[in-house]
Amino acid sequence: MSTMDESTHRDLTEQYGQSHLFDFWEDLNHNEKAILLRSISEVKFPEMKRLIESLVITEPPAEYYDEIKPVDLVAPKDRRAREAGDAGEALIRAGKVACFTVAGGQGTRLGFDGPKGSYPIGALTGHSLFQYHAEKIRGLQRYYGTVLPWYIMVSPANGDATRAFFKQQNYFALDPANILFFEQQMIPCVNEKGKMMLETPFRLAVSPGGHGGSVQALVEKGILADAASRGVEILSYFQVDNWAVQAADPLFIGHHALQQSDMSSKCHRRNSPREAVGVHCLCDQVYRVIEYSELDIYPQLLQVDASGDAVFSAGNSGIHLLNVSFVQDIYDHFEDFPWHKAFKKIPCIREDGTLFSPDAPNGYKFETFIFDALRFARNPLALEIQRLGEYTPIKDYDGVNSVVAARQSMTDYWSGWMKGAGIAIPEQSGSNAAWQLEISPAWAVNREEFAERAQTLPKSFDKSTAILADGTILSK
Ligand code: UTP
Repeated sequence: MSTMDESTHRDLTEQYGQSHLFDFWEDLNHNEKAILLRSISEVKFPEMKRLIESLVITEPPAEYYDEIKPVDLVAPKDRRAREAGDAGEALIRAGKVACFTVAGGQGTRLGFDGPKGSYPIGALTGHSLFQYHAEKIRGLQRYYGTVLPWYIMVSPANGDATRAFFKQQNYFALDPANILFFEQQMIPCVNEKGKMMLETPFRLAVSPGGHGGSVQALVEKGILADAASRGVEILSYFQVDNWAVQAADPLFIGHHALQQSDMSSKCHRRNSPREAVGVHCLCDQVYRVIEYSELDIYPQLLQVDASGDAVFSAGNSGIHLLNVSFVQDIYDHFEDFPWHKAFKKIPCIREDGTLFSPDAPNGYKFETFIFDALRFARNPLALEIQRLGEYTPIKDYDGVNSVVAARQSMTDYWSGWMKGAGIAIPEQSGSNAAWQLEISPAWAVNREEFAERAQTLPKSFDKSTAILADGTILSK
């Protein structure tokens, strides 16, 4: 390591008021010094200065709107449904669609030891979230006779473990050439004075910069170029922890294309005006998603109609379509993209070099959210979905948005397929059925295909049953 490196980095940190990052320099060994310099060189200092000044040193005022209106939700069975379904299928067949999963989060609430996508969600099979998504893609490739490339955003904290998991699982029988992992940027955490925090004397405390970081990562890691070289025009975006999500839904894709939308969303109806999900709305005619933490700033979002339902009904499900060309456009103007701060407990090094594990928030993490791109989109479309079979976000083990709730939801959903195909199954009692169902999406991509293939299945099941990708039946 040259002194030149050291002095350049020292100058940089001094210029941006972060020279304390060198406080422990004299105590570091050669390797530790190299790690510190590398982690400093990865910081985008001008961007951090802007974030610190605009979000930490000053409290940004809430945005004010003259008028906030609900978005119009397209009903799934609207008059254009058939045309949209056909258009979407044609785009999938023509190889214009790729799947894009964001899996760079820390999964703090679930507290699982490993990448969240490797969580064994299948109650009988133990199959992981990643395996389910992979089998959906296999099913779609078979059904439409096409290839759906799969882009997976990870973070430097879980990237190696995610890649190793796929390798160990033999890429779930997908062609590894069509699966591309890429890492999102980590953003330094800062204390209440706007000083970057150290996790150890030679490593900055950093955190993944939110799913909006996919915009920068898609471009800077060459994924957008890969998509363009394959002729892909639309990215089917979903979050790794939504077990139910359709990896590429022809109806949604067709509506998006017919409306010439840059970016579209699937929205479920909010359970209550206070449900903890973002709300899709039009603020002074611009499409926005207002976070549930901001509901009290915009009390009109709490309105209910005569039946007690939320007037602003469109809840954010984290399912989108993004045109490849649109991602490039927002990247080119990323300085306009809104950032958010979150006050969190961040373990860090005290001035005397000892580790401090706070029991109350002590610093800020910075994030961007993909749904904020909607404000820049032409003709954004919102398609209404039912939660069942579309939306099972897994944040905790039990309770709302949990592993337990997702297993119940998918059992309910697949029960409907089975009953529809004339298969007798035990009746569910209460909300905690003692038995579970799983159907591999590689075996049946949708209810119609299941009904056709179900002719080879027994006419009744009396215990928990999983139908695997090759049609094998597992009963317990
Ligand atoms: P969440 O914000 O729910 O975070 O992410 P999480 O990591 O799943 O869980 P908690 O909040 O730490 O408990 C929603 C989706 O966005 C991805 C996650 O991997 C998940 O699929 N995400 C989140 C990223 O890809 N990068 C991020 O920086 C944050």
